Amino acid sequence: MTLADHPSLITFWKANYFVNEMDTKNQFKLFLDKNPDLSIVMETDGRIIGTALGSYDGRRGYIQKVVTAKEYRKRGIGKMLVLEVIRRLRAVGVLYIPLAEDKHLVAFYIECGFKKTEQVAMNMSWSTYTYTPDTA
Ligand SMILES: CC(C)(COP(=O)(O)OP(=O)(O)OC[C@H]1O[C@@H](n2cnc3c(N)ncnc32)[C@H](O)[C@@H]1OP(=O)(O)O)[C@@H](O)C(=O)NCCC(=O)NCCS
Repeated sequence: MTLADHPSLITFWKANYFVNEMDTKNQFKLFLDKNPDLSIVMETDGRIIGTALGSYDGRRGYIQKVVTAKEYRKRGIGKMLVLEVIRRLRAVGVLYIPLAEDKHLVAFYIECGFKKTEQVAMNMSWSTYTYTPDTA
């Protein structure tokens, strides 16, 4: 995903999800500059059919705007997008991806490998290190 995709992304997100103040061109540029090569756009015949934004704050990884075109849903595209962003997040060192709980999406994210936890609604973690103040 690059800045040049922005106009088509806005059209795509409006038609298939939503846009808000975080989707302005300036915000989008800032996001991509801070998180190079972590977001993906899927196209067929030059037309966007899927997106997923990945980001990393140096501690946690995040996945946002996972969107499949309405007419392409339930074909495995959303899962493919999520798994590719996870692969990229792992490659830059992310160990932990928290998700906000949305009861409509729990089944989808469980299909993608996330688990429900006590600490946050759902997460995926590769870390075996457990922090305790006594040992840190
Ligand atoms: C959520 C979304 C991205 C799923 O995309 P998709 O391409 O249809 O998902 P997939 O086909 O890869 O689904 C993978 C699995 O998750 C499950 N799943 C997908 N959407 C689901 C839903 N809405 N409810 C329950 N389960 C769902 C399916 O069981 C599927 O498994 P299956 O192959 O055994 O049927 C799509 O519905 C969408 O764009 N929604 C609007 C945007 C949104 O809410 N995004 C998430 C927050 S950023």
